[in-house]
Amino acid sequence: MHIGILGAGQLARMMALAGLPMGLEFSFLDPNPDACAGQLGHLVTADWADACALDRLAGCDRITCDFENVPADSLARLAAATEVRPCAAALAAAQDRLEEKRLFTALGMDVPNFAAVDTRPDLLAAIEQIGLPAVLKTRRFGYDGKGQAVLRTQEDLEPAWQRLGGQPLILEALIEFRFEAAITAVRSAQGQLRCYPLSRTVHHQGILQFAQAPAPFDRQHQAESMVRALADHLDYVGCLTLELFVTDQGLLANEFAPRVHNSAHWTIEGAETSQFENHLRALCDWPLGSTTLRGPALMVNWIGQMPEPATFMAIDGLAWHDYAKSARAGRKVGHATLTANHTAELAARCERLTTVLPDQLKTCLASMMASSG
Ligand SMILES: Nc1ncnc2c1ncn2[C@@H]1O[C@H](COP(=O)(O)OP(=O)(O)OP(=O)(O)O)[C@@H](O)[C@H]1O
Ligand SMILES: [Mg+2]
Repeated sequence: MHIGILGAGQLARMMALAGLPMGLEFSFLDPNPDACAGQLGHLVTADWADACALDRLAGCDRITCDFENVPADSLARLAAATEVRPCAAALAAAQDRLEEKRLFTALGMDVPNFAAVDTRPDLLAAIEQIGLPAVLKTRRFGYDGKGQAVLRTQEDLEPAWQRLGGQPLILEALIEFRFEAAITAVRSAQGQLRCYPLSRTVHHQGILQFAQAPAPFDRQHQAESMVRALADHLDYVGCLTLELFVTDQGLLANEFAPRVHNSAHWTIEGAETSQFENHLRALCDWPLGSTTLRGPALMVNWIGQMPEPATFMAIDGLAWHDYAKSARAGRKVGHATLTANHTAELAARCERLTTVLPDQLKTCLASMMASSG
C-alpha cells in the first residue's frame, strides 16, 4: 500500500517511521525541499496547489495530511482520483476557528465565550459582550500560538488591532483553566473508535512544551464522549485530537486537529499502538490497534534547537527523537519521552530530567510535577 502525505514535516516523518515496518511506502508533497520526512520516502517539492504535483500524488492508494491548512481545491482534486482520509470536509471544519467553535457548540460542547471580529467596531462590541481578559485570534492559519494577542486592558487593543486587524478574527474569553488537556482518538471507516488516555498538556509562550499521560485528573469519560461526538459527526477516518481546558465547571473545547498531534507523541513508547501506527491502520482499513497505556509517560518538546543528547540519554526510560530539522527560534525540532512502569518511577525519572533541562524548562516541569499531586 502506498500512502501519500500532504506535508513532509515531523508528523509525516513519524508516520513513515511507523509505517515502513508494516510494509507501507510513502510519498510526500511539500514546498520545502529540505522537509524532514523526505529521507523516508519520495518527496515531491512543489506548492500545495501545483496540479502536476497533486496528480503525481494521486497515484497513491491513500492520501492523508500532516498539516490541516491544505487548500480545499487541492484536496478535491486528489479526492476525485483516490481515497483522502480524513476527508476534505473534516479538514475544513478545523481550518476556521469561528466555524469550529460553532460546530463544537452545535455538538453540545462547552466552549469559551466567543464572537466574530472583522472590523474595529466589531472588536469593541465583542469586548463589551465578552469582557477582558480575552484573546484575539486569526480565524485561519494559526499554529503554535501564532496570530494571537492577549488583551488584558484597554491599552492592549490598539497594538493587537495593528498587528492582527484586516483579516477575519475571533475574540475569545481568556479562560483561567486549572489544566490544559488533549484527547486523541482513532476512528475507522466503519465507525469503530478507540481513545487514548487523556494527556495533560503544558504550553510555554503558546507552544506545547510538555505532555503527560495519563493526565493526573479524571476527565476521561467526558473527554471521550466529546471527541466521539466530533469524530462521528465528521465521519472521520484516522487520528484526531481535541484540545481542552479543564475548569472547575467542567471541560471546555478549545480546538481540534484533524491529524496526528504533538500531545500524543508519547504514544510511540507509552501506548500499545502509537497514534502514528493507528492513523495508518485506519487509512489502510486494517484493524485498529490497542490504545491502552503501557505505563505512565512524559514528553518534552525541543524547541529552537536540539540539546546535547548524551546527558538525556543517560536517563533510564528516555527515548530520543531528533526530527533532523535545522535550528530556528520557535521551531519544533525534536522531543524526548520518558516512560516508566508506575507513577512513582516516572516521578523519580522526571526529577532526574529536571536536573539536566535548560533553566526555563526546569521551572516549568517542576511546577507541573508539583501540581500533579
Ligand atoms: N481562550 C483561551 N483561554 C486561555 N488560554 C488560551 C485560550 N486560547 C488559547 N490559549 C492558550 O494558547 C495556547 C495556543 O492556543 P490555540 O490552541 O488556540 O492555538 P494554536 O496556535 O492553534 O496552537 P497549537 O497549534 O499549538 O495547538 C493554548 O493551548 C492555551 O495555552
Ligand atoms: Mg492549540
